[in-house]
Amino acid sequence: MVDSKQNKDVQLNDLYRDTVLDHFRSPRGTKPIDRVDIRREGNNPLCGDKLEMSIKMSDDTIEDIEVHCKGCAISVASTSMLAELVPGMKKDDALKLAEGFKQMMHGQPAPEGLDIGDLDSLEGVKDFPVRVKCALLAWMTIIDALRADARDDDQTGAMTSTEDKQD
Ligand code: FES
Repeated sequence: MVDSKQNKDVQLNDLYRDTVLDHFRSPRGTKPIDRVDIRREGNNPLCGDKLEMSIKMSDDTIEDIEVHCKGCAISVASTSMLAELVPGMKKDDALKLAEGFKQMMHGQPAPEGLDIGDLDSLEGVKDFPVRVKCALLAWMTIIDALRADARDDDQTGAMTSTEDKQD
């Protein structure tokens, strides 16, 4: 008979499926970009893990992104998936995607018609509230970065924390 601890282990193993491990081992978006229009740092106060995000914009479109995440497999993989998905997206579409992923991590289905790429491999994370903050670190950071850019806020030294923003 499988007890509840074993069940959790099975689910945890599911979290680290091949796609997640591939992104963790070969994170996308780490190549230096040639111009930085928005820069933002994010951190997960629960563990102290951090990321640095730099974005090159072309009008309302994300032309390129560079992101470095020092964290667990889930935070690094989720950051890498973001770096794969957002280049070429209009700012509003990137915000829709980020909000859709947040929704997923809070147990709701992704909005209809939203292309979530490899993010579906992180769906099981929603059952582990502590890890949800890991998966959302990059996404909360880009939401803050793009919203602040729309307000023309100074981004120098701006920091996003999953602690104050997520719930
Ligand atoms: Fe720190 Fe996941 S344990 S981001």
